[in-house]
Amino acid sequence: MQEQDRAKWAAAQGALQFVKDGMTVGLGTGSTAEKFVRLLAQKAADEHWQLSCVSTSKAIAALAQELGLTGEFTNPSLLHVDMTFDGADETDKAGNLVKGGGGALLREKLVALASDEVTIMVDESKHVEVLGRAFKLPVEIVPFGYQRTVKRLEALGAKAVLRCRQDQLFVTDNGNYIADCDFGGIANPAELAVQLKSITGVVESGIFAGIAKRIVTGRSDGTWTVQEL
Ligand code: A5P
Repeated sequence: MQEQDRAKWAAAQGALQFVKDGMTVGLGTGSTAEKFVRLLAQKAADEHWQLSCVSTSKAIAALAQELGLTGEFTNPSLLHVDMTFDGADETDKAGNLVKGGGGALLREKLVALASDEVTIMVDESKHVEVLGRAFKLPVEIVPFGYQRTVKRLEALGAKAVLRCRQDQLFVTDNGNYIADCDFGGIANPAELAVQLKSITGVVESGIFAGIAKRIVTGRSDGTWTVQEL
């Protein structure tokens, strides 16, 4: 197993301590969240826990169901989620995040904002001084008139590239496109998030400012640390 993979397993293991029987649990998307779902399913089966799950993507819903987890996997009400467990592409010292590398940012944010607490699981490579320098910010945009929306993103200072998969434009679970935006570093994540939301045609950005309650950082030696925010 690669070092980063071991660190992701450690982060997922570290996050598991925050789950309690009876919770409504939000399941994130990505390789770290997937590891968490595997550990959670095993723990829930071993302990005979009654959990109700909601998912942040079709892919993670399918995995959760395959592993025997139950919950509202189609059109959840999201009226109350106790805790969500998700990965991140970048996190700064204040716990602001960039997410959406897997293209699930809209549902990830909907579920996170419905949650009493959000626990983020990362390996050390995700910690950065400034968000958006190394990793391009994913922004979900509607297909209708997307060329104009991309121009509006560029007017805000981004070099925007539409995400492709196998020579086709990548389409999210919500039927939208992703523009990966290089802002050359994001000085004020909360402010940029608001500016992006004000662009007609933008559905949501991958900036998660002030949303995480804690960051669990896994290491390849199997240990982890917890940062409460
Ligand atoms: C999914 O859209 C993302 O927000 C993921 O949470 C993020 O890309 C982290 O992915 P990994 O856990 O695979 O690194």
